[in-house]
Amino acid sequence: MSKGLTSYGDRGFSLFLRKAFIKGAGYTDAALERPVIGITNTGSSYNPCHGNMPQLLEALKRGVLMEGGLPMDFPTLSIHESFSAPTSMYLRNLMSMDTEELIRAQPMDAIVLIGGCDKTVPAQLMGAASAGLPAIQLITGSMLTGSHRSERVGACTDCRRYWGKFRAEEIDAEEIADVNNQLVASVGTCSVMGTASTMACIAEALGMTVPGGASPPAVTADRMRVAERTGIEAVRMARARLGIDQILTAKAFENAMRVLLAIGGSTNGIVHLTAIAGRMGFDVDLHALDRMGLETPVLLDLKPSGDHYMEDFHDAGGMATLLRELKPLLHLDALTVTGRTLGEELEAAGPGFKQHVVRPFDQPIYPQGGIAVLWGNLAPGGAIIKQSAADPKLMEHEGRAVVFENAEDLALRIDDPALDVHADDILVLKNIGPKGAPGMPEAGYLPIPKKLAKAGVKDMVRISDGRMSGTAFGTIVLHVTPEAAVGGPLAHVRSGDRIRLSVAARAIELLVDDAELARRAAAHPVVEPTAERGYRKLFLQTVTQADQGVDFDFLRATQRRGKTPTA
Ligand code: FES
Repeated sequence: MSKGLTSYGDRGFSLFLRKAFIKGAGYTDAALERPVIGITNTGSSYNPCHGNMPQLLEALKRGVLMEGGLPMDFPTLSIHESFSAPTSMYLRNLMSMDTEELIRAQPMDAIVLIGGCDKTVPAQLMGAASAGLPAIQLITGSMLTGSHRSERVGACTDCRRYWGKFRAEEIDAEEIADVNNQLVASVGTCSVMGTASTMACIAEALGMTVPGGASPPAVTADRMRVAERTGIEAVRMARARLGIDQILTAKAFENAMRVLLAIGGSTNGIVHLTAIAGRMGFDVDLHALDRMGLETPVLLDLKPSGDHYMEDFHDAGGMATLLRELKPLLHLDALTVTGRTLGEELEAAGPGFKQHVVRPFDQPIYPQGGIAVLWGNLAPGGAIIKQSAADPKLMEHEGRAVVFENAEDLALRIDDPALDVHADDILVLKNIGPKGAPGMPEAGYLPIPKKLAKAGVKDMVRISDGRMSGTAFGTIVLHVTPEAAVGGPLAHVRSGDRIRLSVAARAIELLVDDAELARRAAAHPVVEPTAERGYRKLFLQTVTQADQGVDFDFLRATQRRGKTPTA
C-alpha cells in the first residue's frame, strides 16, 4: 500500500491519507499488509465477450485470498469488436496506455489482466510489458456454440458464411434472422480460431497464463477454476517478484510464433505479437517468421482452417495437447507465470489421450504454418496471407486489378451491376491501413461482388493494406506495407493493372514498371491524413506501420534487444 505514493511533499502524510481513505471502505491494517494484487476489471455492458466478469472476479479473488493476498480490482477500458467505431484497433493502443498507467499509478505488487475480446489481451500485455510488474493474464474464455436447424454454428466464421449465402440470395431474410439468434449462444469470445482464441493460445504459449488457461469456455466450471488458480499464482508471483521481463523473453516470443503458425491463427496475431515484442525491445523478423512457417505445420483442426470449435479444443486437452506435438520445436526452458518452465508444465500435464482436434505432427491439416509472408514491389515492407484459409487454386494467380480507393468507394460500387469485374480479377482496396482509415480496420475481407456471388463465385484474390478478422477465410493479402496513405506503392495501383500473386515464391508483384509508378507518384502525390486535435491527432502523428505492430512510436521500448524469431 505504500508504493507509488501520491505527491503531497510529505511521504508520511501521503501514506496516512491513503490508509484513511481505504479504511473508509472497511479495510483493516491486517488486510492492508498483505501483497496487493491489482485486477483489471474489463466488464462492460458493451462487451458480451467479457460477460462472465462477475463470476471470474469472484473466483479470482477467492484464489488471491486463499493464498494470503489482497485483491483490488479497478476498471480500465474495455473494447468489443462490434461496438467500436471506426474499429477496435483504433483504441487498442489507448487501452494499453490506460492499463500501463493505472498499473504504474496505483499501489500493487502484481497485476492480473482479465481480457478476452480481440484487442483486449494484446492491449493488456502491451501495457503490462511496459509497466514491468509481475503480471498474469486471465482469459475470459470462448462462447458456446449454437445450433441453426440442427447445424452447429458459432461466431464468427459461420456469421460470414451465412451472410455470404444471404447476399447470394441462397437464404431469405427470415432464415438469416433465425441464424442471428443462434450464432452467439452464450457470453464469451468467438468460438473459432479468430483473434481472441489466437491471443488466448499465444498468451499461454508466452507463459503468461496458468497452464490450461487458454481453452476453457467462458461459462464453464473449468474457466472458474482457472480464475481461482490465477489468483493463487498472482500472489506467489508477487512474493517471488517474478517480473514480466523474466517471462516475455526472446524464447517466449518464438514459442508464441510457433503456436500462432501451428494453430492456423489469426493474421492479427502477427500485428499484436509485434507490438508486444516491441514493448520488450524486440523487433519481429518477418523473413525468419516465414522460414519458421516452412517447418511448422497447422495441427489444430479449428474453423476457419478446419472444422471444430474452441470448446472441442478444450475437450481435446487444450494447449497441452498442442504443445506436446510441437515439443521438438519449442524452447522448453522458457519460464511461465508459475515459476516453472514450459517443459516442466508439459511434464506435469501428463501423457495425453486419444482425440480428434489436434493432429499428430506428421498428419497435419496443412503442411506449413497458417501464415505466409509476401514481398515484392507492391509490398516492399511485406504483406501476409493466411494460406491455410485460402483457395489453393488461387495461390498462384495473375489477374487484372479492380481498384477501390477507400472503404466508402468499396461500399458504393462493389454491388453495382455495372461494375466491370470478373471472377479471375484481383480486388484491391486502398487506404484502410494504420493511418488510412485510420486504425487499420478488418475491412480486408472484401465481399465478393454481388453479381459474381450470385453466379456462384466463392473466392477471389483480394489485396489491401488493412487487416481481416481471424474468423474469415479466402485468398486475401493483408497488411501491405507501407500503406497507401503514407505513399506506399499500393497508392498508385490503377484498375486494369496486372498483379501476380505467388504464395509458393512468397511474391506479390505489380506488373507495372518503376518509371510508370514514379510518374504516377509525381502526378498524384499522396497527402498523409491529419487531424486537428485529440486522440485522433496523437494517433495519426505517432502510429507505426504493420511491421512495427501499429503501436505508437513513443510507446515502444527505447532500448532495443534484438530480433525475434532467430530461427
Ligand atoms: Fe469479441 Fe469475437 S467479438 S471475440
